[in-house]
Amino acid sequence: MCGIVGYIGNNTEQTIIDKLKKLEYRGYDSAGIAVMNKTGYRVFKSKGEIKNLEKVVEVSKDSKIGIGHTRWATHGKPTEENAHPHVSEDNRWALVHNGIIENYLELKDKLMASGMNFYSQTDSETIAKLLQYYDGKDKLTTIEKTLNNLKGSYALAILNEDINGIFFAKNKSPLFVALNNGKALLASDIICFNGFATEYYVIEDGEYGFTDGKKLIVKNRLGIVGKSPCAFDCSVENVENVYDHFMIKEIFDTEKALKSNLEYYSVEDNLKKLSALNIKNYDKVVFIGCGTAYNACLVGAKFFREQLDIDCFTDVASEFRYSHPKLDDKTLVILVSQSGETADTLAALELAKENKSTTIGVVNVEYSTIAKNVDITLPIKAGVEVAVASTKAYSCQIITMYIASLVLKATLNKTKADLKEVSAFCDNFSFGKLEKYQEIADTLRYQNKIFMIGRGLDCCTAYEASLKIKETCYINSDTYFAGELKHGFLALIDEMTYVVVFATQKEVVAKTLSNAEEAYSRGAKIILFTSLDDMDKAFMDKCSFIVKVKDVNCGLQAITNIVPWQFIAYYTSVSKGINPDRPRNLAKSVTVE
Ligand code: AGP
Repeated sequence: MCGIVGYIGNNTEQTIIDKLKKLEYRGYDSAGIAVMNKTGYRVFKSKGEIKNLEKVVEVSKDSKIGIGHTRWATHGKPTEENAHPHVSEDNRWALVHNGIIENYLELKDKLMASGMNFYSQTDSETIAKLLQYYDGKDKLTTIEKTLNNLKGSYALAILNEDINGIFFAKNKSPLFVALNNGKALLASDIICFNGFATEYYVIEDGEYGFTDGKKLIVKNRLGIVGKSPCAFDCSVENVENVYDHFMIKEIFDTEKALKSNLEYYSVEDNLKKLSALNIKNYDKVVFIGCGTAYNACLVGAKFFREQLDIDCFTDVASEFRYSHPKLDDKTLVILVSQSGETADTLAALELAKENKSTTIGVVNVEYSTIAKNVDITLPIKAGVEVAVASTKAYSCQIITMYIASLVLKATLNKTKADLKEVSAFCDNFSFGKLEKYQEIADTLRYQNKIFMIGRGLDCCTAYEASLKIKETCYINSDTYFAGELKHGFLALIDEMTYVVVFATQKEVVAKTLSNAEEAYSRGAKIILFTSLDDMDKAFMDKCSFIVKVKDVNCGLQAITNIVPWQFIAYYTSVSKGINPDRPRNLAKSVTVE
């Protein structure tokens, strides 16, 4: 969950900084660069965002080669000495690292016993010291010997002061390389290649090598690896000219994203592998994800239960792999992940494959590790999502799993999936009344706790709405099953408590409102969120706010219901002076366990 860059070319310092800014979604606790010139390399570091680094970097006219890093702290506080790049004691090696070296303490002890001193609390510094320890004439051999000692995940860009080029290595953390007319760019995400190249190379696990901008050498344990380039077509529009933040842009992107999702799945060829799946070959479906992706799993499982009448289970990836799940070739495992790189979800995928389960990946980043390693990939076609708080991707995860449930049902019935209902939903999609969302945000901004309650699909929505408020507004928003209030949670209710009541599911709305009355009669302030018309007038008069959304009369109500809360979270966050794109302590892609 850090971002690394390597660059060979002119305007070195500024280019690295510009590319690091594109990777800030991967972490922004601290940043640094190392730039080579005639006298060796110089290192610049800063705490906080990249713009702080820009203030300290000295540009040198003879710079040509450099590496850069933006950090999400895993080992050691976000301080300057823990910021990357990290260097060997003899200053001949400098490196940037994304990942976690699980055996670094054991290696550090050995290196300290050999007389080396350490300046940081990081695992990454150990790699720089190992390069010095194994330093020899052939630098790729030095790299090999170093890598042979490492257990864990890494994407590395490495400088040696005598060599005009960049070494690299990759295991479990993403790394891509592009060359262009004597220049080279290495990065944790291909969005950095925008404007630099039209093709790139994917470095795979266990591969390492060197580039000087003209040649690219890639090796693995067996020797030289031949690499074919991938075509690059990725554009992250600059939000500066239209929106204040990526988050609001990406919420407004939702309608376009849903339509591009439907367009993709309207092409029969794109459903071929899924349509060939007979759900009768399985006795259960397990949905796995983290954070927002897990909340989407809750909704996807409902769709599959309703459409396919099969046992469906959900689990957060970090729990799943230690819960001794019963997996076999009659289990269908659906992994949901926007980035396709989340370490816990990747580990769940490995466990599913070890147990011969069929795996489906519902992913946004189509070149990601999960996308490349599942049996069936269902891209959500949301477009690049940069803001840490996932918005359009959640909606596209929902529509993808809804369509998947229809397709699998059609296979059962030996027909073709009818997507007319989905198409009508997309054509009539509306963002609702933004001024109402702003009004609610102007109240919620002063709260330090919020309750959200619902039943069934409404509770799934409440989980995701709560996460949005937590991660962008730093307000403790908690979700409770509406029916559970009386089993303990009511004790938390006082006159200062706002309770958001999600009531869009006709079959349970009466019970949900009686739960809301329980809270109201104990002093709570009610925010009613509903799509239904014939609500009890007496109850509505008790509500502090009422948000009315369209009733879409199908499972896609989950999308209609979450969009207002994405806006409310955004407006509340901004009104509190928070940058919703980069909430504190978080990162967009959690590639460590
Ligand atoms: C969601 O807003 C958060 N950024 C976070 O919970 C995220 O959903 C989670 O880390 C999973 O990421 P993924 O979808 O890329 O696997």
